[in-house]
Amino acid sequence: MQKPTAYQTLQTQLQATPRTWLITGVAGFIGSNLLETLLKLGQRVVGLDNFATGHQRNLDEVQTLVTPVQWGNFRFIQGDIRELADCQRACDGVDYVLHQAALGSVPRSLQDPITTNAANIAGFLNMLVAARDAKVQSFTYAASSSTYGDHPALPKVEDTIGKPLSPYAVTKYVNELYAEVFARCYGFNTIGLRYFNVFGPRQDPEGAYAAVIPKWIASLIKGEPVYINGDGETSRDFCFIANVVQANLLAATTPNPDAKNQVYNVAVGDRTSLNELYAQLHRHLLPRYPRLAGAQPVHRDFRAGDVRHSLADIGKAQRLLGYAPTQRIGEGLALAMPWYIGQK
Ligand SMILES: NC(=O)c1ccc[n+]([C@@H]2O[C@H](COP(=O)([O-])OP(=O)(O)OC[C@H]3O[C@@H](n4cnc5c(N)ncnc54)[C@H](O)[C@@H]3O)[C@@H](O)[C@H]2O)c1
Repeated sequence: MQKPTAYQTLQTQLQATPRTWLITGVAGFIGSNLLETLLKLGQRVVGLDNFATGHQRNLDEVQTLVTPVQWGNFRFIQGDIRELADCQRACDGVDYVLHQAALGSVPRSLQDPITTNAANIAGFLNMLVAARDAKVQSFTYAASSSTYGDHPALPKVEDTIGKPLSPYAVTKYVNELYAEVFARCYGFNTIGLRYFNVFGPRQDPEGAYAAVIPKWIASLIKGEPVYINGDGETSRDFCFIANVVQANLLAATTPNPDAKNQVYNVAVGDRTSLNELYAQLHRHLLPRYPRLAGAQPVHRDFRAGDVRHSLADIGKAQRLLGYAPTQRIGEGLALAMPWYIGQK
């Protein structure tokens, strides 16, 4: 028989001994997927969100995917991480914090750096203070591949970063700096997960700041033009949501002291250009939408603040956390496609 993976072993342990988790940003894409997995594992979950970019419909959808008993283990707090009192209320009695709440999107931060700064830096600091004071067992937070900035090296290795290319990237880098200082000054250890482009069910396809995969799928389904910024050779390491959920659970519960007070790349280690991505999405959708047969993307200017290539070395998370991604881009797209199609 095959040896179980670190994640399989962890799932068994959690089911045997349920814990209390706080997910900030629980009504968002990544937060609601963490919620779904944790409830299915019989965990108790507190969720905090102010619905800035998240939606009640994401919580409603999770409710349909779990049993009534599992749903009964969820307590939602509508609140704002910019308010210390909300963070304190949310951290009360919690074992593990998964801090996801932030304003994502490089273009949003270029448009409105002040609001992004307030949520992503002041809000982050509030969460650190509240979690430290509540003496939680671990604090895992959403960092970002944008921290690699203008450094040209590929694949990206955690210790080698460049200068930030956007206000959003600054905020995510400042998170890492604060996290490190909290370890040094207060002995409060955290783990930062530098997500690369995450995709999967409940990622918002709507709005000016939608991510490329849900946006393009929605456009293809509606018969609207798909715009590629630049020549299409810009590349990304697209990471299916299940891999991100796995990384969070492994990080939050790691018994390895060397694994704490660190940041990790969370990706797959595959490089896909935007042209290749378009071709894959087109291939997935064509059987269901034959009218896409002749569809072609429209190229336009490069977008300000975008990194040209992004590809992760995931060796550190593999070594120290036992992280082992379960889906590559094609498998993730196949799993998520029914959800995207259901959104039309
Ligand atoms: N999706 C990606 O590819 C990706 C990549 C790198 C990093 N990240 C980070 O992962 C985290 C989750 O991103 P996501 O893709 O799920 O985005 P999302 O917008 O779907 O989720 C973010 C959630 O945080 C909530 N939120 C925002 N400001 C808040 C505030 N002041 N108080 C309380 N809640 C607030 C939003 O309402 C939303 O529900 C973010 O920190 C983001 O920066 C995401």
